[in-house]
Amino acid sequence: MTEQCFRPVPVALSPLEEARFGIRTARAMVLSMDDLPQVMDFCHAENVRLLISRCSTRDLSVAQAMERFGFSLMDTLVCFRRTLENLPERPDVTVRPATGADIETVRAIARAAFHGYDGHYHADPRLDRAACDDLYEDWAARSCTLADLADEVLLAEVDGESAGFLTLKALEDGDADGRLYAVVPHAQGRGIGQALVREGLYWSQAEALLGMVISTQVTNIASQVSWVRVGFAPHGSFYTFHKWFDEE
Ligand SMILES: CC(C)(COP(=O)(O)OP(=O)(O)OC[C@H]1O[C@@H](n2cnc3c(N)ncnc32)[C@H](O)[C@@H]1OP(=O)(O)O)[C@@H](O)C(=O)NCCC(=O)NCCS
Repeated sequence: MTEQCFRPVPVALSPLEEARFGIRTARAMVLSMDDLPQVMDFCHAENVRLLISRCSTRDLSVAQAMERFGFSLMDTLVCFRRTLENLPERPDVTVRPATGADIETVRAIARAAFHGYDGHYHADPRLDRAACDDLYEDWAARSCTLADLADEVLLAEVDGESAGFLTLKALEDGDADGRLYAVVPHAQGRGIGQALVREGLYWSQAEALLGMVISTQVTNIASQVSWVRVGFAPHGSFYTFHKWFDEE
């Protein structure tokens, strides 16, 4: 899943986490060691308690500098990309755009699929477990209505049941970003995830985009296998750190 993590974004407050955890939270993408003082200054000035910060795995000196500043490693993300040439055949699974009427369905799929998820929220022992679960269903539900979270939400239907969804956002660089992606546990492993990603590629093509990127934790093998099956290839990787300012 991509949480706007693969683009150099400035450090900013993060209302999604603040609403769910009740903790003043910021997010940052640290591109070089020179960025760190600015990020720290922002957090002190804004009374941030939790900073969620990413850096590329390509420059270990940045990760090591964050460790010296008291950041803790929470996960490693891998990003995959595919161009839109030679698209795989359209899936025989029914996939359609979700509407406002599907919000609770999308929420329920996310609740089931992301319970105890192996991501950076659940990896942080200071974050409430139930709130970590809730964050994903909130994010999924809000993606159905908020344009800053998603431009499209695709819903897969199997045997008359909504079984999975994929949220998509067009990025400024011309790629589509597959942001949140889930299939209900009892329907996993039957090609529904791949069907959603295939339809995401067709959506990207219809939007005249250049390619599609999608990311997940390095430990999430099912996701990575599903992307490789439809022609994605590794594109980059990032560490996610949490820094608690009340531990300084
Ligand atoms: C990730 C997820 C969306 C994939 O959906 P899915 O419908 O199960 O995916 P598919 O069946 O299309 O493809 C999964 C592939 O991974 C394979 N796979 C699953 N677990 C595997 C493992 N541990 N090792 C190797 N292969 C594995 C499956 O066999 C399948 O490959 P196949 O087509 O060759 O059989 C779904 O598992 C899910 O919702 N997981 C929980 C939430 C999550 O991780 N979301 C994604 C965050 S980025």
